[in-house]
Amino acid sequence: MDIKNIKKSLSLEEKAALCSGEGSWSTKAFLQKGIPAIIMTDGPCGVRRQKPDKKGTFPATCFPAPCLTASSFDTGLLYEIGQVMGQECRALGVSLLLAPGINLKRSPLGGRNFEYYSEDPFLSGMLAAAFIQGVQSVGVGAVVKHFALNNQENWRLVSDSQVDEETMRNFYLKSFEIAIKRGKPTAVMTSYNRINGTYASEHEGLLTDLLRKEWGFEGLVISDWGAVNDRVAGLHAGMDFEMPGSANVNDPQIVEAVREGKLPERILDISVERILHMVERTMPVEGEVPLLDEEKGHALACKAAAQSMVLLENNGILPLSDRAAVIGHLAEKPHFQGGGSSHVNPTREESFLEVCARNGEMPAYEPGVSFEGEEKAQQLLEQAVRLAGKSEKVLLFLGLTAADESEGFDRKTMDLPENQIRLAEEVLEANPNTVIVVMAGGVLNLPFAEKAAAILYVYLGGQGGMSALYDLIFGRISPGGKLAESFPFHIEDTPCAPWFGQQDTLYGEKGEIGYRYYDKQDSDRKVRWPFGHGLTYTRFELSDVSVQKEEANIRVDGILKNVGNMSAAQVVQVYLTIPGETTHRLVGFWKKELSPEQKETFSVVIEDDRLVAFREGTGSLEWIGGSYLVEVGFSSRDICFSTEIMLEMHTKRPVIARLGDSGKLCSRTKRRGFHANSTVTDLLGTPIGDLLYKRLLQQLQEQLEKGECDENFYHMYLAQIRQYPLRTFVLATHGAFSFAMLERLLELLSDPEPDMEEAKSLLRIIRVI
Ligand code: BGC
Repeated sequence: MDIKNIKKSLSLEEKAALCSGEGSWSTKAFLQKGIPAIIMTDGPCGVRRQKPDKKGTFPATCFPAPCLTASSFDTGLLYEIGQVMGQECRALGVSLLLAPGINLKRSPLGGRNFEYYSEDPFLSGMLAAAFIQGVQSVGVGAVVKHFALNNQENWRLVSDSQVDEETMRNFYLKSFEIAIKRGKPTAVMTSYNRINGTYASEHEGLLTDLLRKEWGFEGLVISDWGAVNDRVAGLHAGMDFEMPGSANVNDPQIVEAVREGKLPERILDISVERILHMVERTMPVEGEVPLLDEEKGHALACKAAAQSMVLLENNGILPLSDRAAVIGHLAEKPHFQGGGSSHVNPTREESFLEVCARNGEMPAYEPGVSFEGEEKAQQLLEQAVRLAGKSEKVLLFLGLTAADESEGFDRKTMDLPENQIRLAEEVLEANPNTVIVVMAGGVLNLPFAEKAAAILYVYLGGQGGMSALYDLIFGRISPGGKLAESFPFHIEDTPCAPWFGQQDTLYGEKGEIGYRYYDKQDSDRKVRWPFGHGLTYTRFELSDVSVQKEEANIRVDGILKNVGNMSAAQVVQVYLTIPGETTHRLVGFWKKELSPEQKETFSVVIEDDRLVAFREGTGSLEWIGGSYLVEVGFSSRDICFSTEIMLEMHTKRPVIARLGDSGKLCSRTKRRGFHANSTVTDLLGTPIGDLLYKRLLQQLQEQLEKGECDENFYHMYLAQIRQYPLRTFVLATHGAFSFAMLERLLELLSDPEPDMEEAKSLLRIIRVI
């Protein structure tokens, strides 16, 4: 593409139009000008390309969710997954994959934790970089999301993450910095929320000063779907491209702003150029379209799940040598992916029972729970307990269902549903030789853990999850996954508990996220399972560990040996405590599969960018001279070797971006009266607000009944309805409910005796989806 000349040939209106999509999944084509349209689609768990009739999506491999693949601690595996997803994108005509998502897991309750990797920025960033490189190795663009500080789903369209700059830079932005600098994604997607009062899609400090000037990002910045609050402010800040398309709503505002001198045309030109570069870089090459290789995708999905599932406890019962009774409805209907935009239409589906049958076994089975009334539930519980009592060993399946975890809302509790807690307690009582298998997208409280003979945490295993599980249980492969998040005992133990989920969410715990809080020196904080923990069917020994300086870096060498009697993979983890800090951070990991008696030398280089920390006081990045504690082990709490190393340097580098009123963490003064960002909840109690809420609920129900909205999205929208700001309806109706109508509705809302007929006629136009 001759980008310079194409740009010159575009009128102001065409340039504005190019800056938003065509519908939900495409850029706009200007074929006479030589600009084709490219298709984009979600997402982290597999390719989700919508069918032309909008009824469902094309089949594609449903990979294990990132909560599980993160537990592989394996950048090579993430690269492979990215590459195959990229190939499936090509087969389905997709140019831009809306993945990976790399926000940190601030709380176990985060609704999208299943789509994210870890509580740790280094692990998240390294895995994401590998995934991005894999996707992009076949010419498809990756879009890293959601930039930034989008660590909860509740109130996501209006929430304000109130964070000091030190916490942002050292933790929450770190995963993005690593992924962007190493992975070089084609695009970055901004998040819905505000950061210290400013919407992410309008945050010049983030989108231009930090992302481009400090980190050197040269790609495109895309809005999350419907995340635009003020389009012109967004362009000023560096938000190039709006999704979905907003032909009637925001494109004209851009034109008007340029004409009125409020937006210099050269700013628009820069975004246009970036969009054209993105199209050029990712558009499908002419010629034959490759076929989607279902076999290849499925085989990789199985392998990824097997290499990532985490064995949390084992008294020696696993691997099983003979058959066990199976209890729990999830053995029949597995929960293998989360809800919302990452939901994939898998090429295959299999339950654990089906995999058993394929292997020539039909174990005795009881679902143990019922959703058809109390009597039936009691009957199934009793049957399950009876089966447990008379069996030699039991495999008990526990976990959540699709309605329990999804994009769009946070979980309310870390507990399992009541009926499953009861089932677990009674089955364990009846038979202590019980292996628990847990399917969930995040951390669950398992108060009965000590009574189980073994616990396998399989997270959301994707379409190959049950084959992988079978192989692990019967010892065809050893588990090798490690927790990418800590398992606290109670939700109250999480440091963000006082603020998480609120509309104005203060990051009062600062950088004390996950193991950095639990493992703090001189504290005696207990966790059920620590970050990095995961057992295998063999034993490993570390020896000859040495630590030395290597120019500006630190190098850790040693030998890992498999001293047990089965092949398995182990992850050597390196943690570092910077002088003056009271807790350690993961700075390196190395994974290797070894057969019995095999040993291998490892070398982990801690590059100097992992030794740096931003200090609020000086407004600089600082490499501090002094004694660094280096720890090497198999989890954040299983440290086999530690030593201190002196680093002389003391270097400071001032930063360019200033990211908010750091240090002044405050609850913002609420704007008086109703405005475009007032939510449905704010309006409740007014006659117009109550009517609006009723209408939205009714509409959603109708859409579900007519099949225009599937179960997956139903739960997500239902949870969000009360949290929608009024401005959303302008975008959702493509301007049929216009900004002028919104103004009028606001006037009616502040009128003590509003004209309800007029209000009703306005509300009739409003739609959610
Ligand atoms: C999600 C994004 C997703 C987009 C398109 C949004 O609601 O937050 O992650 O890529 O929808 O489906």
